[in-house]
Amino acid sequence: MQYRTIKKLDLSLSTFGIGCMRLPLQQQPDGLKDSSKIDQDEAVRMIRHGIDEGVNYIDTAYPYHGGNSERVVAEALKDGYREKVYLATKLPVWLAKSYDDFDRLLNEQLEKLQTDHIDFYLLHALNAERWEFLKKVNVFKFLDQAKKDGRIRHAGFSFHDQLPLFKEIIDSYSWDMTQIQLNLLDDHYQAGLEGLHYAADRDVMVVIMEPLRGGALAARIPNDVRDVWNQAETKRTPVEWAFRWLADFKEVSVILSGVSTMEQLQDNLRIFADAAPGCMNEQEKDLVSQVQALYRSKIRVNCTRCNYCMPCPSGVNIPEVFRLYNNMFLFDDPEASRSQYQKLIKDQSDATQCVECGLCEAACPQSIPIINKLVEAHQALTT
Ligand SMILES: NC(=O)c1ccc[n+]([C@@H]2O[C@H](COP(=O)([O-])OP(=O)(O)OC[C@H]3O[C@@H](n4cnc5c(N)ncnc54)[C@H](OP(=O)(O)O)[C@@H]3O)[C@@H](O)[C@H]2O)c1
Ligand code: SF4
Ligand code: SF4
Repeated sequence: MQYRTIKKLDLSLSTFGIGCMRLPLQQQPDGLKDSSKIDQDEAVRMIRHGIDEGVNYIDTAYPYHGGNSERVVAEALKDGYREKVYLATKLPVWLAKSYDDFDRLLNEQLEKLQTDHIDFYLLHALNAERWEFLKKVNVFKFLDQAKKDGRIRHAGFSFHDQLPLFKEIIDSYSWDMTQIQLNLLDDHYQAGLEGLHYAADRDVMVVIMEPLRGGALAARIPNDVRDVWNQAETKRTPVEWAFRWLADFKEVSVILSGVSTMEQLQDNLRIFADAAPGCMNEQEKDLVSQVQALYRSKIRVNCTRCNYCMPCPSGVNIPEVFRLYNNMFLFDDPEASRSQYQKLIKDQSDATQCVECGLCEAACPQSIPIINKLVEAHQALTT
């Protein structure tokens, strides 16, 4: 495992951190998966295996897996594992209506996680609206107090909005860290590479989320993308290229990845055994540019399948509709997507079930105009 030294915090962190938003799920009798039903035994086995192999950064959050991720992480960190890791979790700022709620939520999280302190406590998924509220109720006083009384060691925020707001937030408090979405398709999206450098230049540690764009860069790979990767002198998998592209930046401290199987965990442990700054040569960087151009010409909706918009009260399977819509163009096989979409229609989870309540759009960290995109997707998937 590669480690990076965080001088300001006097820490050595594993470059690969386990993100606990996509833990293995129980098989349901109807064959479908319910993201709130974690396969706890397998999740505990995986997290502990990761730690045994050198991972020392674990990331969870209040809402992951319908509120069950923190509980399962607590199980995994029993038997001496808590002492081996730096634990990160996040304040669900949208549930706080007043200053007093911050203390209540943090104390509830400490109890769920069965620990007396959080190593990295983040204000979760900041955007302009949440930031205005947090400033108004003086969240800084709460963070200072929680650090002082030892309930949290380091304070940070995760971010899903535009670059100018990111810079404003970075400049507003003495943050220890920030967590941003960055992958080879989102290099100029939200905080992006400019945000990475902006934070690092101000000595704010940067943790990366969605490095595989929620799995899109790992799943089925379009043939023309594969052809580009195959031109590299050293042959690697698309997952490996995506991680190495990030690991090459010395400004990156930890790269989080959600792993939903033991095989994925083992693969990522292998990749992070030698992914370090300087690991990409010029020819490989040129191949990345070609892959970026190919993906950008094909993808219609920038959905990362984070599930923040789910469940839709009308039953629309939003991420699945967008996956099928994107696949029409990624794989040049529109009929395969159309035929799978018929199953959603049969299950009444297709785009036409939408009653335009807007709940999903308010929850989407990618600011996708979901209602309009559903109409667009339905049209393409049914003609
Ligand atoms: N603060 C926030 O607002 C926020 C938002 C998003 C994420 N996060 C955190 O950041 C973490 C990382 O983001 P992410 O989970 O989206 O990471 P990611 O690495 O972009 O996506 C994870 C998914 O990629 C696939 N995958 C991972 N390793 C693989 C491998 N070796 N081979 C093939 N497929 C592989 C799996 O997809 P399948 O399950 O489809 O197989 C897995 O579920 C999250 O788990 C969470 O802790 C925070
Ligand atoms: S706007 Fe439509 S898709 Fe979104 S939550 Fe409401 S009904 Fe569901
Ligand atoms: S539509 Fe937005 S909130 Fe829903 S899964 Fe996709 S990125 Fe996440």
